[in-house]
Amino acid sequence: MKGYKIAVLPGDGIGPEIVGEAVKVLKTVGKKHNIKFDLHEALVGGASIDKYGISLTDDTLKLVKQSDAVLLGAVGGPKWEGLDYSIRPERALLALRKELGLFANLRPAKIYPVLADASTLKKEVIDGVDIMVIRELTGGLYFGTPKGVTKLPDGTERGVNTMIYTTPEIERIAKIAFDVARKRRKKVTSVDKANVLETTELWRKVVIKVHKEYQDVELNHMYVDNCAMQLIRNPKQFDVIVTENTFGDILSDEAAMLTGSIGMLPSASLGGKVGLYEPIHGSAPDIAGTDKANPIATILSVAMMLRFSFNLTNEADAIEKAVESVLNKGYRTADINQHGMKLVGCKGMGEAIISEI
Ligand code: IPM
Ligand code: MG
Repeated sequence: MKGYKIAVLPGDGIGPEIVGEAVKVLKTVGKKHNIKFDLHEALVGGASIDKYGISLTDDTLKLVKQSDAVLLGAVGGPKWEGLDYSIRPERALLALRKELGLFANLRPAKIYPVLADASTLKKEVIDGVDIMVIRELTGGLYFGTPKGVTKLPDGTERGVNTMIYTTPEIERIAKIAFDVARKRRKKVTSVDKANVLETTELWRKVVIKVHKEYQDVELNHMYVDNCAMQLIRNPKQFDVIVTENTFGDILSDEAAMLTGSIGMLPSASLGGKVGLYEPIHGSAPDIAGTDKANPIATILSVAMMLRFSFNLTNEADAIEKAVESVLNKGYRTADINQHGMKLVGCKGMGEAIISEI
């Protein structure tokens, strides 16, 4: 019997609820296909701060590094917002990404036909949208130094963050983008702000160089402001979008909304030995503990884990099919609900998907 060790980090807010449902899905798949998923749960983010005083303990980091993959819920919330940046819940996530070498973040935004009406955009604009946002995850403004806020002699303050990219960092993410595009519609849009930011001028230059090895893939370039606009104007023009960390953070939220709800989008963070899988949405503290959260993004993140970390293609397909068929049957959490549909909570959605599997 095949076995995989998985670190489960539910985190804060709705994290425990959505991860709870995703874990049930994982167990169901394991039972059905005779695969052993060895699950180890640990605290991360605010939950870890409350118990241990820090958002990521050495023990958790050790567990994660010794696992085959990581499933994460969400971190952060108003309770910890006053804390110094260096010890905030979000730090744990950034440290995990960095420590595991997860430089490539894959965020697929694909519209389900039955949800086309749930989007705030017109059906004809979003019908057929299938975009893969590839976000660089361990560089740029998030990690560059110098950074921080310093007091000036006149009593005012000065805040700094630094956007840094080196040639190898750009090369490796560009390669991933072209490789992924080869398995899709063979079109990469590299997003930068090369008309203003020197860092991203280098980004463009290196992407063009890497592209020489991928002449079967179409490459075009877009400034980030234009891309934000094009995503709303004509999202179907995009196949793979590759971009730096901060731009990717912003554009992937935007791409998510094309699909109706940010509660639908999974993600895979790859590049190191251990992959990390998480929904792209946050901890939604306003609805935490009310059984209202949509667990689909997390459940689809499990599917990505099976596909990318374990090569369990059939099992991943089964989860994705189950989600689609539950949506086709009219089950909806509040974020994607519409008149005449079957409104369910987080648990109800999880159960419906499990019974479909
Ligand atoms: C995301 C989130 C995180 C990020 C936060 C929670 C640190 O917004 O994964 O998109 O900015 O990367
Ligand atoms: Mg984000």
